[in-house]
Amino acid sequence: MKNNKALIKLAENFVKEELEFDRSGHDWWHCNRVRNIALEIAKNEKADYFICELAALLHDIADEKINESKQAGLDKVRNWMIQNIDDKECIDKVMSIISTMSYNGGQNKPMKTIEGQIVQDADRLDALGAIGIARTFVYSGWKGQQIHNLEQDNTNMDYRSNEKTAIYHFYEKLLKIKDLMNTNYAKEIAQKRHLFMEEYLSHFYDEWNFKE
Ligand code: ADP
Ligand code: NI
Repeated sequence: MKNNKALIKLAENFVKEELEFDRSGHDWWHCNRVRNIALEIAKNEKADYFICELAALLHDIADEKINESKQAGLDKVRNWMIQNIDDKECIDKVMSIISTMSYNGGQNKPMKTIEGQIVQDADRLDALGAIGIARTFVYSGWKGQQIHNLEQDNTNMDYRSNEKTAIYHFYEKLLKIKDLMNTNYAKEIAQKRHLFMEEYLSHFYDEWNFKE
């Protein structure tokens, strides 16, 4: 049985290999940031560090958007863990987090464990603020979306042109996230990042309408 430190190193290498060429905002650096944020949040909670770190590192290997199906993505993570980790309980805990943590319009059931809540918060924080804005535009470019469409009134969640835009994503998801955080530490950071995004949008509209 490998020790936890060795397993984390192996997981890092697996994620780097799998997501090296990802340009949809789910690259290695996103996973690395989510791991670092998760460990920081875990300091304030009674949580299993190893489960938090492993789940955070592996969470986007399984993302539906970059796999043939949700199941195919989950199988990839489970198979890797079965090959490398002897502890079935640990594998089940990580799989349970990864398979239930996605945003899903904010409709998913609350995470059952503190480790799940922490990793979910870390992933959501990385969708906010300056980095969240960068990821939104990268994802939009990857999907071929427009930046903004004047035909749409995003604030009313009304998109007449039947096409999502990067700016629409702020209203669809980003501005809602601060109210969905699980831990107090993440709530505090989310609030700061939220204010920055509001400020960003205000500048964006000023420039768009040339009201500077
Ligand atoms: P994660 O699971 O890592 O939180 P997602 O898979 O939901 O992220 O999306 C990856 C990144 O792209 C996130 O920063 C997210 O906010 C952004 N994103 C997701 N859907 C859209 C969209 N329709 N338009 C623009 N950005 C999006
Ligand atoms: Ni993620």
